[in-house]
Amino acid sequence: MRKLAAGNWKMNGLGDGLGEITALAAAFPSPNCDVLICPPATLLSRMSDAAGSAIATGAQDCHAKTSGAHTGDISAQMVRDAGGAYVIVGHSERRTDHDETDAIVRAKAEAALSTDLIAVVCVGETLTDREAGQTLDVVGTQVAGSVPDGATAANTVVAYEPVWAIGTGKVPTLEEIGEVHDDIRARLVARFGDDAKNIRLLYGGSVKASNANEIFAVSNVDGALVGGASLKASDFGGIITALEAS
Ligand code: PGA
Repeated sequence: MRKLAAGNWKMNGLGDGLGEITALAAAFPSPNCDVLICPPATLLSRMSDAAGSAIATGAQDCHAKTSGAHTGDISAQMVRDAGGAYVIVGHSERRTDHDETDAIVRAKAEAALSTDLIAVVCVGETLTDREAGQTLDVVGTQVAGSVPDGATAANTVVAYEPVWAIGTGKVPTLEEIGEVHDDIRARLVARFGDDAKNIRLLYGGSVKASNANEIFAVSNVDGALVGGASLKASDFGGIITALEAS
């Protein structure tokens, strides 16, 4: 399987930030893992042009419908039209800020798959869930509810991002990461069969160049979804290098 280093710029980035992508493309002309940046929608087209062929781009969300009266939303087809190959769905910030349920996330993922985009489906427990010992139940329920029936290793990526680790500098122990990734893998294989052994499982939440090596050594961690440390080519480059070496 080709591993994946994915950057999520969230609501950050203006046109003058495109130099980061050209720097990244220059530093990694042919990486031995997949590299993805998901900028804000306003930058997607320009970034797709600037990224070249070695770096993929994607959106941070899409609507479940293909078109229509949905002011402010973008469809999977629009993401594709702007040069995107991936779309993140169900990020915890979308689940929280926009009340996205597993059913909504699954519908968005289905829209992505039917548009030949790769869906990056995000799941993760809150600190309250973890302290109550419910991490595997909560994450398992999200995986069951958010990953569409048409998921394959080619069209779907699952990102495990503990809500309490996002943007906080806090990271679960390596044992905790491995426990959740092993559990997600087992659930996917039980549902989809052997193909799911190759569905890429990303860890996300305060990944940096300095902790990437140890995280990438954990079983069933096939890459990372990176927020803050994806904004600068130099920081994200360190993570890509760690993934290439893993
Ligand atoms: P972070 O964000 O790397 O800034 O913690 C990760 C994410 O939300 O995808």
